[in-house]
Amino acid sequence: MTTRILVTGGCGFIGSNFVRMVLAERPDWEVVNLDKLTYAGRLENLADVARDPRYRFVRGDICSPETVRDAMTGCTAAVNFAAETHVDRSLLGAAHFIETDMKGVLVLLEEARRVGLQRFVQISTDEVYGSIAQGSFTEESVLNPRNPYAASKAGGDRLAFAYWATYKVPVVITRASNNYGPFQYPEKLIPLFVTNALRDESLPLYGDGRNVRDWLHVADHCRAVLFVLEHGAEGEVYNIAGGNERENIEITNEVLRVLGKPASLIRKVEDRVGHDRRYSLDAGKLRRLGWEPRVSFERGLEETVRWYVEHEAWWRPIKDHDGEFRRYYQEQYGARLG
Ligand code: NAD
Ligand code: TYD
Repeated sequence: MTTRILVTGGCGFIGSNFVRMVLAERPDWEVVNLDKLTYAGRLENLADVARDPRYRFVRGDICSPETVRDAMTGCTAAVNFAAETHVDRSLLGAAHFIETDMKGVLVLLEEARRVGLQRFVQISTDEVYGSIAQGSFTEESVLNPRNPYAASKAGGDRLAFAYWATYKVPVVITRASNNYGPFQYPEKLIPLFVTNALRDESLPLYGDGRNVRDWLHVADHCRAVLFVLEHGAEGEVYNIAGGNERENIEITNEVLRVLGKPASLIRKVEDRVGHDRRYSLDAGKLRRLGWEPRVSFERGLEETVRWYVEHEAWWRPIKDHDGEFRRYYQEQYGARLG
């Protein structure tokens, strides 16, 4: 029997990598991709599979019950990637985050409950735990989201859990660390710095540049999500991490090294307000079940930098011609860069 899954947010960074991987690795599955095409959602991210008969794209909002009902028809499982995802944007205005990352999750869960979906994977984030000075968060750690993005994701995360605890909707929740790889919208640290450096523009490093993130290649993340979709236990949370903790300045230096660009491009700028110092996850629970990351960070980062070098046709139109990106960049960095 054919398995048909609903993927939301499939035109974004991680969602598009996931859709491509599922179509390649599960030849008898069909994928319905429901995406609103916000600034971060790009049809070109999945241009190579657009004509695959096992793939269907639906443009729509996860906050709309009618749209979700239509897209979910005939599906046995759903994976919810759709979200507003950028911390810095949530600091300029949090309303869209509450809408999509909380209310959208509610709409999806209600429909999942109504149609009796067999599996619902809620893609959460390590940011729900907040910052940790030493050691690593396990799935049992207390949630302490400290910015509006993280808080909205924590709301969606706990709502999903509540629908399992209350109604036995077969929910599984994943909390991944910072992803990197191809097709990441060029406002996040790595693609922003690579594309700025390629044009000899400043790299706006926040604060002292020593905040730590735990980097995970998007392919390893996608493999983990597929693993949890097929093998995760209902009502459970799974941390997903690459185990690659790096200070932002280390990432920045490595990007410059691969590109052969000078350190003089680095501009230390005013810090992000409420900037979480360090994220660190213990992913032992998922590793014990058999998943493990395969991409070494050094190789993955270098390949990622080269992907942006080779795919200028993908990012240049966003940075040069997308009025939304330019407006955002000016608002976020205009005063900082002077
Ligand atoms: P992204 O911003 O690249 O893409 C988000 C996608 O969701 C876009 O295609 C957008 O059009 C779509 N979308 C937004 N609002 C929508 C709505 N109301 N209805 C339908 N579609 C909508 O995000 P990403 O980096 O690929 O992240 C995907 C998921 O993974 C998010 O849930 C995010 O919180 C989570 N996550 C991301 C990271 C990371 O490092 N990027 C880490 C951990 C977890
Ligand atoms: P980001 O990619 O926005 O992911 P997140 O905030 O979800 O971790 O940022 C990663 C780190 O890089 C974070 O510590 C903030 C820092 N950063 C900068 O120093 N300058 C920038 O211009 C951006 C976008 C991020």
